[in-house]
Amino acid sequence: MAIDATRWNSIRYTIWAPIYDLVARRLDRGRRHAHLLAGVKPGERVLLDGAGTGLDLELLPHDAIITAIDITPSMIERLRDRARRLGVDVDARVGDGQALSFADESFDVVMLHLIVAVIPDPVACLREAERVLRPGGRVSIFDKFVADGETASRLRRLANVVTSAAATDITRSLGPIVASTSLRVMRDEAAAFGGLFRAVVAEKANQKP
Ligand SMILES: C[S@@+](CC[C@H](N)C(=O)[O-])C[C@H]1O[C@@H](n2cnc3c(N)ncnc32)[C@H](O)[C@@H]1O
Repeated sequence: MAIDATRWNSIRYTIWAPIYDLVARRLDRGRRHAHLLAGVKPGERVLLDGAGTGLDLELLPHDAIITAIDITPSMIERLRDRARRLGVDVDARVGDGQALSFADESFDVVMLHLIVAVIPDPVACLREAERVLRPGGRVSIFDKFVADGETASRLRRLANVVTSAAATDITRSLGPIVASTSLRVMRDEAAAFGGLFRAVVAEKANQKP
């Protein structure tokens, strides 16, 4: 029986989980940049979508109201351990970013850090983020993208054969994904590795058009 892409993500990130922090810590500066742009305020309701081991927790205001989901149970276990160590209260559960189990307009901020290039259906992921955001709420995206209007080089496509099997796609462009929603990009800045990683904030309109 073939394994679908979502199940495969759970399997491969179970393998990554024990060493995930060692690798992802190299992106700390870029992550801080993304948090600076997102500017989460005390008391805001934040969803960490594809939350991993919870490296975002230490960068959020202490009294933010935090929910975290991830498709990989061992990531959620590690996130809970981190939350305990930090003394942070988090509602952490296993869940699929392509079909969130939350009501419309439940959050002020949705953080999509290092997941848009990983999740099998990034359009569904963005649409779901938009759905659960309150009007005027924002999505923080931090990931690696091909610049909008450019196509991935041959070398990059070749490297993608390996990276997409192991962990992540490196050939996605963010523009067409955001364009499939009504979100409006407010900030878009190079965040790490010479602009390979970008920090983007997109806002949900305050009123329905
Ligand atoms: C590269 S890690 C990023 C983790 C974390 N957001 C960070 O910034 O360190 C990608 C995470 O996405 C999760 N993931 C993959 N597919 C998912 C899905 N369909 N729904 C929710 N999480 C998913 C993986 O389990 C993994 O923890």
